Formats: sequence, structure tokens, C-alpha cells
Amino acid sequence: MRQSEMPESLERLKEAAKAGDGHLSFRAMFGPVVQGKLVRLRPPRPEETAVMVTWFEDLEVTRFIKLRFPPSLQAENDWFEATAKDPDGIYWAVEFEGRIVGGTGVRMIDWKHGHGTTGTVIGDKTVWRRGFARELMQLRAEFLFKQTPLRSLRSGYLDGNVASARAQAAAGYKEVGRWHQDRFIGGGWRDHVMTELLREDWERARAKS
Ligand SMILES: CC(C)(COP(=O)(O)OP(=O)(O)OC[C@H]1O[C@@H](n2cnc3c(N)ncnc32)[C@H](O)[C@@H]1OP(=O)(O)O)[C@@H](O)C(=O)NCCC(=O)NCCS
Repeated sequence: MRQSEMPESLERLKEAAKAGDGHLSFRAMFGPVVQGKLVRLRPPRPEETAVMVTWFEDLEVTRFIKLRFPPSLQAENDWFEATAKDPDGIYWAVEFEGRIVGGTGVRMIDWKHGHGTTGTVIGDKTVWRRGFARELMQLRAEFLFKQTPLRSLRSGYLDGNVASARAQAAAGYKEVGRWHQDRFIGGGWRDHVMTELLREDWERARAKS
């Protein structure tokens, strides 16, 4: 959204957010500690970028994500700084046994209309298939629907990413459409499956459980 398109109050809010100024604003933007049974979401630390770059060296980790070429440490540090200052995103480190094993967050938040796009990477393959993504997506949704006014979380996965599909489904995300043959991976084209989780569906599911 360009500044000229913002209503005045929102414009003020965003300026305040950028200035780190208090009361009503969200200051830029790492997520606070959210403790789960398996993992802990917490703000990432600058020294952890050295570990984070190594995640993207592995084609198995990057197989189903946009970032398919490992960034330099400098590029990762720039990303870290930019993420810390982005008032339209919230990013958490995923911690297990005291160490960072991945990252998750919501970005491109449209505060005016109440939606944002969520994503996750568990970069440490040694902890795959332990239910971390399943748990963290539920923790993230609970935080976002209880602590922010967002109404809808958008996401997606590339066809064949069973783990992401199942973890999203467990958190309540539903398929809303497809971009066919969106991405070239491993010698073939894959559909991009678009998903979303609406606040009202999340609230209804919680009321039942
Ligand atoms: C996708 C990813 C986040 C999943 O993380 P994870 O912690 O290993 O996932 P979980 O252990 O919570 O598994 C979620 C579900 O998928 C299943 N699953 C996990 N890996 C699987 C695999 N390789 N094949 C089939 N099913 C799998 C689990 O059994 C679980 O199913 P259930 O709980 O519905 O029975 C992780 O593999 C990853 O970061 N991959 C690289 C980046 C990526 O693809 N990110 C997502 C982009 S959309």
C-alpha cells in the first residue's frame, strides 16, 4: 500500500510504528516468546544468521520454497535488519532444546484489511517429522488471532509438499485455489496450492474443541 492510499489514522500509526513510538502501534517486528509443548517461538538473535544461511545450502530444505540459492552471510544480515524494521511482518525463531532449528512468521501484513501471509522453514532436517510445524502453525495462529486484529492468514505450498500441507490443514488452513504448473522443481512443474485460515473458522474450531 502506498502512503497516499492510507487513511490518515493508519498513516499516523505506521509512522509511529517506524519511529518505535509506543501506545497503539506495533513496533517492528520480531515475535515475542510463545511457548509450545514441543518448540518455543522467540525473537531471533543477530548471531544466529550464521546458522540460518546454512539451511539454504541444502536442496532438500529449499525444494519447496522460493529461496533456492543460499544467501551470503551479508545478505542474511541485511534480511535480518530489514525484518527487524518491517512493521508489516512478525518473525520468530523456532527453538528446540535451546537452539534455533527454524523460523516462522507472517509478512506482507495489510493492517487495513486484516490479512497477512504466513510461512515456515524448519532448516534443521534432523528435527523434521517430530510435529514441530504442526504445533508452531497452531501457536502462530493463536497468537495472531488473539494478539492482533488480523482476520485472515494466507499461505500456500507447492504440490507434493505433504508435510506443509498436513501441518497447515491441522492448523485449519483450507485450500482456496491453485496456480497450475507454477514452479519448476526437480525436472518438473508443480502447482502452487493457495490456502487461507479465516479468523471465524479458527474461532469456530476452537469453540468445538
Ligand atoms: C514443511 C516443514 C515445515 C514441515 O515441518 P515438520 O516439523 O517436519 O512437520 P511435522 O513433523 O509437523 O509434520 C506435519 C505432518 O506432515 C507429515 N509429514 C512430515 N514430513 C513428511 C514427509 N516427508 N512425507 C509425508 N508426510 C510427512 C507428518 O507426519 C505430520 O502429519 P500428521 O500430523 O498430519 O499426521 C519442514 O519439512 C520444512 O521446513 N521443509 C523445508 C521448507 C518448507 O518446505 N517449508 C514450507 C513451505 S510451504
